[in-house]
Amino acid sequence: MRRLREGELPSPHPTFQLRQMTHDDLPAVMAIEAVAFRNPWSLELLRRELSHEWSTILLVEEPLPQGGLRLLGFSIFWIVHDEVHILNVATAPEQRRRGVARVALEATLARGRERKCTLATLEVRRSNEAALNLYKGFGFRAVGIRPNYYADEGEDAIVMVLDL
Ligand SMILES: CC(C)(COP(=O)(O)OP(=O)(O)OC[C@H]1O[C@@H](n2cnc3c(N)ncnc32)[C@H](O)[C@@H]1OP(=O)(O)O)[C@@H](O)C(=O)NCCC(=O)NCCS
Repeated sequence: MRRLREGELPSPHPTFQLRQMTHDDLPAVMAIEAVAFRNPWSLELLRRELSHEWSTILLVEEPLPQGGLRLLGFSIFWIVHDEVHILNVATAPEQRRRGVARVALEATLARGRERKCTLATLEVRRSNEAALNLYKGFGFRAVGIRPNYYADEGEDAIVMVLDL
């Protein structure tokens, strides 16, 4: 097996590599954030997230043929007491349906288990079929609805939980 680079985390995928985000990654993460969401996080919000010790941003990258790594996607989550709360999962549009989000989520849940969390929670737009399928595939179940949760269109959020 290939030796892990400094800061690299074990990955369940043969070519996708995992590591924690740093300030140097802000432009690349912002670029995906901006195209993946109707109301993307601001640079300031992301920067602040990096300073919170309860928050983690995991990056999924892949080596480029010419060297270096390309950012494919990421997950943002909080670990508070015994709960992993997933705030954001996104994949670059041209990299979708390759299993990037699945790897990001697997690593997120593994981190939660390592930290002795017993529950993972998240909110997802009712219309977000891709994300709903992704989460259901991990065994997340819908436990409630937050009406008009997304202020832009007044869309409902589905609250999902998974016992770890
Ligand atoms: C949702 C999202 C993160 C999925 O990323 P991805 O890397 O393409 O997902 P994966 O390739 O890991 O797919 C894992 C599973 O999710 C489901 N899924 C992913 N995209 C899907 C789609 N467009 N339609 C239906 N199901 C989908 C499938 O069950 C898929 O498994 P399969 O490919 O074996 O059928 C991606 O579409 C995205 O970035 N969307 C915009 C941001 C967003 O809505 N994030 C989630 C809310 S926080």
